[in-house]
Amino acid sequence: MRRSLVVGNWKMNGSFELIDQWVSNYTGFMETTTETVVCPPFVYIPFFKNRLLTSAISMGVGAQNCSQYESGAYTGEVSASMLADVGSSYVIIGHSERRQLFGETNEVVAEKAKRVIDAGVRPILCVGETLEQRQNGQTVEVVLSQLNAVLDVVGTAGLCTGALAYEPVWAIGTGKTATPEEAQQVHKILRDSVKSRNPADASLLRILYGGSVKPSNAEKLFSCPDIDGGLIGGASLKAEDFYAIVQAASAVEDIN
Ligand code: PGA
Repeated sequence: MRRSLVVGNWKMNGSFELIDQWVSNYTGFMETTTETVVCPPFVYIPFFKNRLLTSAISMGVGAQNCSQYESGAYTGEVSASMLADVGSSYVIIGHSERRQLFGETNEVVAEKAKRVIDAGVRPILCVGETLEQRQNGQTVEVVLSQLNAVLDVVGTAGLCTGALAYEPVWAIGTGKTATPEEAQQVHKILRDSVKSRNPADASLLRILYGGSVKPSNAEKLFSCPDIDGGLIGGASLKAEDFYAIVQAASAVEDIN
C-alpha cells in the first residue's frame, strides 16, 4: 500500500504574517495518516519549519525549485544541497510555470532531479500537457517524454525517493479540474510506463494529481486507484482548505 502524500505549493505567495496565521489555524487539527508537506518560497523555509516545531505539527517543508548546478557563479540561484541544509525534505521540479515562464526544458529538469537526489532530498517531478496539446491528442506523448527524460537520468529508484505529479496545465489555477476518469487514465499510463522499466518501483511510486484540487473535489480524485494524493496550489494557502484535502486523502488511503 502506498502512503498518500499531499503537498502544498504556495508559489510566490506568503509572508511571516501569513505563515504565522496559517500555522495557528492548522494547530489543533487531528493528525492523519497522510504525509503532508508545504512548499513556501525559499526564503521562508527555515521560518516555516521553526514555526511548525513550536506548534508540534508534524509536516514537512519543501521547496518549489532548485538550480541545476551544484555551486559557483550562478547569481540568484539556490542549490539542492543548500535546500538540504535548511531542512527542506522535498523539492518540486519541472512545474509547468517553470517550464513555460522560465524556459525549463526536459533536460534541465532531469539535471535538477539528479541534483536533488544527490543532495538527499526528495524530488516531486511535475508533468502535464497544455490545452492545445490535449486537443491535438498529444497528452500521452508529452507526459511520457517529460517522464522519460528524468527516468533516463535518475532511474525509477531515483524518482521513487520522491513522487511524480500529473498536473494538466489547463487545470492549474483555472478552476477547471480534470475529471477523476481523465486524471486516472493518465496516471495509469504514467505508472505503466514506470512498470515497463521496473515493476516493483512502479507499485511503490506515488503519483499525485494537481490542478484546481479543492476540498469539494479531492476525495473523488484521490479515490482513483493510481492517484496517491495531490499537489495543491491555491487551496493550500488556507489552512482549513488544505487540511480538508489532507483529510480526503486519509479517508481513501485504505481503499487504494
Ligand atoms: P492550483 O495549482 O491548485 O492552484 O491549480 C496547482 C499547482 O500549480 O501545483
